[in-house]
Amino acid sequence: MLTYRIIRLLTNNSIRRIVQYPSSLRLFNTKTQHNNQIKLKSINDTHATLLINDKETKYDWIFLRDSCQCDQCIDSSTKQKLYNTTDIPLTISPQHQGFNVLNDNSVEIVWNQPLLNQTDTNVHRSLYSSAWLQTYSSSKNIAHARYHDRLPVYWNRNNIQQVNLHVKCDDYLNSDEGLYTVLKHLNDYGLVFIDNVHGEFTVERLTERIGSIRHSFYGKSWDVKSMKQAINVAYTSQALGLHMDLLYFEAPPGLQFLHSLANSVKGGAAYYVDSFHAANILRQNNLQAFEILCSYPVTFHYRNIDRHYHFTRSTIVLNRYLPDNPIDHINYSPPFQAPFESDTSKPEFRQFIQALQYFRDLLEDPNNQLELVLEKDQCVIFHNRRVLHARREFDTATGNRWLKGCYTDLDNFKDRLRIYREKFQS
Ligand SMILES: [Fe+2]
Repeated sequence: MLTYRIIRLLTNNSIRRIVQYPSSLRLFNTKTQHNNQIKLKSINDTHATLLINDKETKYDWIFLRDSCQCDQCIDSSTKQKLYNTTDIPLTISPQHQGFNVLNDNSVEIVWNQPLLNQTDTNVHRSLYSSAWLQTYSSSKNIAHARYHDRLPVYWNRNNIQQVNLHVKCDDYLNSDEGLYTVLKHLNDYGLVFIDNVHGEFTVERLTERIGSIRHSFYGKSWDVKSMKQAINVAYTSQALGLHMDLLYFEAPPGLQFLHSLANSVKGGAAYYVDSFHAANILRQNNLQAFEILCSYPVTFHYRNIDRHYHFTRSTIVLNRYLPDNPIDHINYSPPFQAPFESDTSKPEFRQFIQALQYFRDLLEDPNNQLELVLEKDQCVIFHNRRVLHARREFDTATGNRWLKGCYTDLDNFKDRLRIYREKFQS
């Protein structure tokens, strides 16, 4: 059990209560505390209005009570929240003289009532550092704190060719700097190449450097070789148009790794397109088309050899929780589309088709495509929810072509990116 120390006695509505302070009550974000000036402007039944460096911000009492991070509210070991948001009474507010800006610009609140259904009826005290209050003063600051503010750099053929996207395998596997360079490239461009990769299963190690491997019905890792009676067009020597993998899954894998173990065939060049760049052009030039791509349902499926995967999603998905609703991911994979399951008798269907054709034209514009041959011992890593990949036809009579692939989820990538941004402070 927690130990408490009694600090002082307060009077509240003529009931004398002992205010108990958790022994390890801590300020939030003490590591990044800044010299923010906090002033109280006003208080009412539902919120406080503070001036943070003279900028006015309102904080709802329920938000503040819900965010208390003391040891009674957050388990100090597991970091899990110990009560529900719905346990907070709607009438919660500070008790009389229970709101104080302290000398270090942190804010102390002594609440007027306990949480619902709590046996402990002692008055609860919360403490908020000025840095924490500033973080939660705007959606931009929140995005920064979560490292959501490192926005993608949209690219076309010209500007991506100016960027060095290559990292040596040894640096990537064995140095923090090498890993961080790869993570930044994936965040900024959704594309990076690892050079000097040797060994049949090294692609699995490369994947595990970012996170656990995402297994699928193709296996833990899988081979892309042409074969007779292939179960996927990828396993043929035919041209394979721009697409994303596994959009027929509820959660398609976010990162794809493809390691070239052999490449002596004629043809078979790969090309990549930044679908965010294309969608952004559409957003700027044809908002109506952009918006219909954000909403119209497209069904993807895989129906083959005792498998029946199926999922319906819009072509463009925005992050509606971030400022300016940036593009979160794209769903574009013509080879894996199922028949439409929407009501195609409605005029929206043809409006959608026209919008998709505009989008297709941007994706298929050679000025927006980076084409290259993935050389033997190179591994490409790309953001499967952003960067489309494709390959030209190749001639199997001219040699061998063998890629080994692996997936991991975007959660693992974002986790590493946040941790390494914090570590490198950039
Ligand atoms: Fe693919």
